Amino acid sequence: MHNIILIGFMGCGKTSVGIRLSYRMRWVLEDTDRLIERKQKRSISEIFATDGEAAFRQMETKCLEELLTSREKRILSVGGGLAVNPQNETLLRRLGTIVHLKAAPETVYMRLKDDDTRPLLQTDNPRERIQELMDKRLPVYERLADITIEVDHMTVDEVADEIVKRQKGLTERKKADEITCD
Ligand code: S3P
Repeated sequence: MHNIILIGFMGCGKTSVGIRLSYRMRWVLEDTDRLIERKQKRSISEIFATDGEAAFRQMETKCLEELLTSREKRILSVGGGLAVNPQNETLLRRLGTIVHLKAAPETVYMRLKDDDTRPLLQTDNPRERIQELMDKRLPVYERLADITIEVDHMTVDEVADEIVKRQKGLTERKKADEITCD
């Protein structure tokens, strides 16, 4: 199924880039966090506080399974922890092209230091927490990604343009490979 899936750490710009891409490609934008909040009628922070992270992770997997039942092409932005859950790897690959928006820990810190909607970063030392999580997650994001874009010094428009360009390149290469194999 050929959706474009945006993965990457919290604060890397998945939502803003997703909105821009969705205009450019005229594809619907879905965001797993928003889908879960809508279904649960509670915010992500409330879900973490009452049910805990493990329950939230199950909701994320369920959400991917539901998305796989639709045939519509979409831009799909997924929560920063979703892609690193081994249960989700096959589901993500089946959903489409995986694009990793790679942001440096300092970029993430500067963008999220005053944000209180990310339960995992509500600690005494968010900078350290970002680094710890990033160290664990980065190898997984990199392994999963069909396309990686380093976003630190790019505008949202530039990132969206780059995704469109690289996605076209991937599709053309795939077609050429199919012809060679025939
Ligand atoms: C999380 C990232 C958040 C949200 C939740 C957990 C994570 O989404 O799913 O707070 O584990 O990195 P964003 O990446 O959209 O901030």
